[in-house]
Amino acid sequence: MSMRVGILGSGLMGGKLGTIWARAGHEVVFSYARSEEKLKKLARDAKGKARAGTPREAAQDADALLLAVHWLRIDDVLKQAGDLSGKVIVTCSLPMNADDTDLVIAHTSSRAEALAMKVPKARVVSAFGTVPSEVLFGVFEARRKAKRPSLVYCGDDKKAKGVAVELIRDTGFDPVDAGPLRIARYTEPFTLLIARLAYEGKGGPELAYRFERF
Ligand SMILES: NC(=O)c1ccc[n+]([C@@H]2O[C@H](COP(=O)([O-])OP(=O)(O)OC[C@H]3O[C@@H](n4cnc5c(N)ncnc54)[C@H](OP(=O)(O)O)[C@@H]3O)[C@@H](O)[C@H]2O)c1
Repeated sequence: MSMRVGILGSGLMGGKLGTIWARAGHEVVFSYARSEEKLKKLARDAKGKARAGTPREAAQDADALLLAVHWLRIDDVLKQAGDLSGKVIVTCSLPMNADDTDLVIAHTSSRAEALAMKVPKARVVSAFGTVPSEVLFGVFEARRKAKRPSLVYCGDDKKAKGVAVELIRDTGFDPVDAGPLRIARYTEPFTLLIARLAYEGKGGPELAYRFERF
């Protein structure tokens, strides 16, 4: 089913995920970058139903919003997006400090929970934050292979989780429901392990993970 997806933060994560979702048949609005030309180019290059817009336009009539900005930009982008009551917000954002070296929230809360407190009337799902942006196009290209990589997601709203599952599948991952939003306390630090393997390991950053049961 085709959805309308607003991208709030069109950088490494938002730019790539928005492109993939446009190519998967969704209607995508790229928003929030420092140059409007960049947003327009992303929309052109996505070669699907994509366009550039303001955060408010991205949020308007959106079935889902991807929040993909640095922690320090959160208040600004939310303010520009306007009223997000009832909206499904899929967040891949992590609570990193200014120089991206450590988490500023962990263990007793999470970035996803802090976001849900800022927009209590929205339906927040945490997803996509556990993989590096460098792997996204590769996963999408390999989506017809039998064994897909896993992607954990969590949230408190059943409908919002259903929307996230569609986007996760369309990207080429196998969705793994990790439970309520508070589980982001564990998935967010897990990302630092993935980042360590991706950026400090030998094989390069095009890294995803897969859970198996025996
Ligand atoms: N990159 C990854 O592999 C990865 C993986 C997992 C989770 N995450 C998390 O996902 C979130 C997004 O990461 P990212 O790597 O996609 O970040 P990014 O590439 O820096 O993208 C952030 C977006 O916000 C825009 N922006 C920043 N300041 C702005 C301002 N003052 N006005 C308007 N727009 C502004 C940037 O604009 P410009 O395009 O003009 O720079 C960019 O489009 C972060 O919380 C990060 O921790 C990232």
